[in-house]
Amino acid sequence: MEIIDTHSHLYLEDFAVDFHEVISRLKDNHIKKVFLPNIDSSSIEAMFKLEADYPGLFYPMMGLHPSSVQSNYEEELKIVKEWIQKRKFIAIGEIGIDLYWDNTYFQQQVEVFRKQIKWAKDLNLPIVIHARNSFDEIFNVVDEEASENLTGVFHSFSGTIRQAEHIIDLGFKIGINGIVTFKNSKLDDVVKQIDINHLVLETDAPFLSPEPKRGKRNESSHLLYIAEKIAQIKELPVEEVGRITTENAKSIFNINS
Ligand code: NI
Repeated sequence: MEIIDTHSHLYLEDFAVDFHEVISRLKDNHIKKVFLPNIDSSSIEAMFKLEADYPGLFYPMMGLHPSSVQSNYEEELKIVKEWIQKRKFIAIGEIGIDLYWDNTYFQQQVEVFRKQIKWAKDLNLPIVIHARNSFDEIFNVVDEEASENLTGVFHSFSGTIRQAEHIIDLGFKIGINGIVTFKNSKLDDVVKQIDINHLVLETDAPFLSPEPKRGKRNESSHLLYIAEKIAQIKELPVEEVGRITTENAKSIFNINS
């Protein structure tokens, strides 16, 4: 079996102490590829190092995370633009709007989100969307920017079936992580109603560790718990969940290997 973690921040300091164990656990748990969403200029170097050290395992994205949209956002955006002109990435991400932590820069977050979507369209790249307390605001922008070559993933989905249907209508995939294993999330009821062809798997490591590791540091090898939970919800063998979600991920991110 082969599964892909479509959203993991394994380049963060959180993994410095036991990185080699983290890597060996990937292999033990069927994780064949890990996609790395960028955060801001401070995460780029560590992300590239993983890519260089483990060819074919790690795939970087480039983008400015909404929580990193602060007073220096123009400078940060310039760095993103330079990188996407200089080399290839699998996606523009992660980008979006986050109104959970802080809404001081809400207007700027919208502007930065829209600008990066336009770059993705110019380059024919998928986008990876971070939406937190901001579905309506995100849909306002994505609905306006919708076009044949705009596609990607709504990462860390925990919304309603109506929101899931809106995402599918836009031609996007839905990123499911450890939230689906949380008892009170009700996400399992929503996932049950979504065709598995619209789902991709992710951990969002080091955050949102699934049951039975909830509350601990998350890592990409925990993806198997998420695949198993979806298998249970969909009443499918886990190998089938792996096969379909891997196919979904490869098609949206244009991975041929
Ligand atoms: Ni993330």
